Amino acid sequence: MWQVGLCVVAVVTILISQWLYKWRNPKSNGVLPPGSMGLPFIGETLQLLIPNHSLDLHPFIKKRIEKYNTVISFYVYGRVFSTNLVGRPMVITADPKLNNYLFQQEGKEVELWYLDTFEKVFRLEGEARPNAVGRIHKYLRGTFLSLFGVDSLRTKLLSEIETTVRTNIHRWSTQGTIDAKKEAANMIAVFAAKNLFGHDFEKSSDVITDTIAGFVQGLMSFPLNIPGTRFYKCMKDKDKLEKVIRAMLKERIACPEEKKGDFLDRAVKDLNTDFFLTENFILSIIVGALFATVESISTAIALSFKLFAEHPWVVEDLVAEHDILLKNRENKESPLTWDEYKSMTVTMHVINEVLRLGNVAPGILRKTLKDINYNGYTIPAGWAIMMVNCTLQLNPNVFKDPLAFNPRRWKDIDPQTASKNFMPFGGGIRQCAGAEFSKAFFATFLHVLVSEYKYVDKIKGGDVARTPMLQFQDGMYIKVSKKHA
Ligand code: HEM
Repeated sequence: MWQVGLCVVAVVTILISQWLYKWRNPKSNGVLPPGSMGLPFIGETLQLLIPNHSLDLHPFIKKRIEKYNTVISFYVYGRVFSTNLVGRPMVITADPKLNNYLFQQEGKEVELWYLDTFEKVFRLEGEARPNAVGRIHKYLRGTFLSLFGVDSLRTKLLSEIETTVRTNIHRWSTQGTIDAKKEAANMIAVFAAKNLFGHDFEKSSDVITDTIAGFVQGLMSFPLNIPGTRFYKCMKDKDKLEKVIRAMLKERIACPEEKKGDFLDRAVKDLNTDFFLTENFILSIIVGALFATVESISTAIALSFKLFAEHPWVVEDLVAEHDILLKNRENKESPLTWDEYKSMTVTMHVINEVLRLGNVAPGILRKTLKDINYNGYTIPAGWAIMMVNCTLQLNPNVFKDPLAFNPRRWKDIDPQTASKNFMPFGGGIRQCAGAEFSKAFFATFLHVLVSEYKYVDKIKGGDVARTPMLQFQDGMYIKVSKKHA
């Protein structure tokens, strides 16, 4: 009998060893980039999730780039390594040439892929996957650009943004201490919900800003859908959110002539005319757009408050620019114009510098559709790729003393060099459709803030924790007050 037991143990040991060998040495038709697959099932995920309390590149990435490559100068190619994150074999690239190549290969050799959490939440599967390129992507991109692009900003959105910003900063100034990240997220959520699905917070009794915030926070968590986890709450918040949006969608379908100039107007017009535009698809897109809008801009705004507290001279530079802007204005009460927005040089330098250090989108993720041969290495089909452009944004050859917050540096940076090394909004055909909107929102926010309010220092919190998304784990508490109160 014991012989049978011994045989079973031997067979199991051999199978496990084989499986472990396969885990550590994944199949490839060529040489894989150097690296390690880490522990079975979880790979090296835990190392990446250890919070980095600095704006520098996450040590997980920094250490491996240094370990696997002999960096002779910053432009040495081959800053690429293999790993396994959340059970997915992945190549992480900090190589500008490869990253640029991958941006051009969208839909050919690579396809958008954002972790299984996102796949579950946004239903990125089946024929009508919003992550595929082609007709669907063109339609969505076009719709977003016409809603949030330059023409819309110039003719309509800029003044709406200003009104929203004024109302919110005024409210903050009456509240004493506020959590900047949370309040900025609420401000943007209200604006986005109105422009995406016509949600009017003044008329509606639904408190959906907390739901949006809960949903957005949970998206950055481990996709473990059991009660008590952040991801579970995220899915619950998403259900609540979808219920509100679905109700608005039904109302709009019933009365299509009640136009509000939002995303729903267009979606309802095109509903069922194209194979992909179903009610569920519209919900997924709106929920995804809420995430893209709320998390990115609120993080940038909260980070700017932290950096201003540490560098008050930057606020003085801003005040000087906006004082001149107001002095040159004929009617002091008139709203911000497009030309005024376009004239804000110092403000744009501040925004660039916040985005450079913030790395709000720290990694751009793709899945390979076929084997990619690059520089002697092969990235196998079906693998994930993370492009980390932040290494460029912290390149000491382009940005001297790269971790210093110094918006004045942008005065001397040649635009061509900047465009190659500074890509906060991604690149290629997937470049951010909300880039101009984000800059206009941020600039208008700074305009109102420095023209009319005193930012009275950071009160508490403000410590950053990158995991690799930038987060303020203990909040970012500040006080703003009216200048001439
Ligand atoms: C600071 C603010 C923002 C940053 C740093 C940012 C960054 C990015 C990046 C890096 C990408 C490329 C993702 C990829 O290639 O996988 C992207 C795509 C996108 N962003 Fe943003 N984003 C911001 C704000 C916004 C806002 C406010 C909106 C909506 C109005 C928006 C809508 C989109 C859309 C629709 C795409 C996908 C474009 C496509 O696939 O063609 N983003 N964003």
